[in-house]
Amino acid sequence: MRVVLVAIMLMTVVLAGCGESSEGKYGEDLFGTTCAHCHGSDLAGGVGPPLGAGSNAASLSDGQIAGVISVGPGAMPAFANRLTGEQVDSLIDYLRERQGS
Ligand code: HEC
Repeated sequence: MRVVLVAIMLMTVVLAGCGESSEGKYGEDLFGTTCAHCHGSDLAGGVGPPLGAGSNAASLSDGQIAGVISVGPGAMPAFANRLTGEQVDSLIDYLRERQGS
């Protein structure tokens, strides 16, 4: 019984720890695995345009960016069926953080 209690407490601590840092880090990781090979892990661009501070993307609204991600204009793939709304929100949060806005 004691062992089970300790295990539950440990799990709670681990889960709570994840919750704390998940927001920004989650978007960053997702960007790294899903977008960085085209837009650069530093957002400086590559196959796709730059997305960081001072870029055209920085002047787009959150809704416009969400639209770009789901539709995939030009050479960018559509992510509507590959990312949930929450994942798209995390990506936008991450971009805003990096854009300094
Ligand atoms: C296969 C390469 C590729 C991948 C992967 C990719 N993009 Fe793109 N992205 C592009 C290209 C190319 C454009 C320019 C499309 C156009 O308008 O012709 C673009 C445009 C954009 C724009 C609009 C920029 C502007 O100045 O109008 C945003 C925002 C964006 N991408 C975000 C993302 C995000 C977030 C991801 C990851 C979910 C992602 N992209 C994944 C290639 C890519």
